[in-house]
Amino acid sequence: MDALDAIRHRRAVRSYTDAPVADEDIDRLLRLTLLAPTGHMAQAWGFVVVREDPRRSALADLVLRGGADYFREARPAKEGTSAQEHAAWAQDYAEQVLGTYREVPVWICGFGVPRFSMDNEVLERIERFSDVTSVSFAFENLFVAARAMGLGTAPTIFHLFYEDEYRELLNVPDDVETHYITPLGHPTQFPEGLPPALAASRRPWRSLVHDESWGNTRAEA
Ligand SMILES: Cc1cc2nc3c(=O)[nH]c(=O)nc-3n(C[C@H](O)[C@H](O)[C@H](O)COP(=O)(O)O)c2cc1C
Repeated sequence: MDALDAIRHRRAVRSYTDAPVADEDIDRLLRLTLLAPTGHMAQAWGFVVVREDPRRSALADLVLRGGADYFREARPAKEGTSAQEHAAWAQDYAEQVLGTYREVPVWICGFGVPRFSMDNEVLERIERFSDVTSVSFAFENLFVAARAMGLGTAPTIFHLFYEDEYRELLNVPDDVETHYITPLGHPTQFPEGLPPALAASRRPWRSLVHDESWGNTRAEA
C-alpha cells in the first residue's frame, strides 16, 4: 500500500485480535515514526513500547477505566437515569467498544521530553508548542506507516484520566510530559468509514480551506 492509500484508509481501530506483532515490524515502525519533522531538530520526544505482562494488561485496564470515565462525562445521560445508572452504562459501553484492548499485543506510549529551556517567555512558549506538535507529527507517521503494514492504531488519551497511575506504571519521571498512546495490533477488521454519527459531522473539506486570506473558503466560491 502506498502512502496516499495508507492516509486514505487509516482509521482509529478499536477492535483487535491477539495476534502478535513481530519485533522487527515494531522496530521498523518506530524508526519511521522518528523520521517525523521535529522543531529545531530538538527531538523532544520519547516512546515506551509496552509488550509484557503484567504491565501490558495493567495498561489496557487503565485505558478501559479511563474510557468509561470519558464516556460517562462526555455522553449525556439518558433521560430518567440516575448518575449511578449512567456510570454503569458508560462502563458497559467502554467494555463493548474497547474490550479487545485487553488482547492487544503492543502499546506505544508517546512522551514529550523538553530539551531546551530558553530564557525568553515568547521563545519558551513557541518551544513548548513545537515540542507538543512534533510528538503529534511522529504519531501520525506511526499511524500511517502501521496502516500500510496492515496494522491498526488509535490515538488515545483515556489513560490521562489516571495520569499518576499511568506514570507510576511506566516509571515516567516528573520532567517528562505525558502524551497520546496507541494500541498496535491486528484489527479484527479495518473500519471502512466512520460510524454514521461521526461521518455526518465531518465538515466538507471545501469549508475548511480558505484561498489567499481567511474567510474566502472554497465553499463560498
Ligand atoms: C488528539 C486526539 C485524541 C484522540 N483521543 C482518542 C481517545 O482517547 N480514544 C479514542 O478511541 N479515539 C481517540 N481519538 C480518535 C478520534 O476519535 C478519531 O481520530 C476521529 O473520530 C476520526 O476517526 P478516524 O481516525 O477513524 O478517521 C483521538 C484523536 C485525536 C486526534
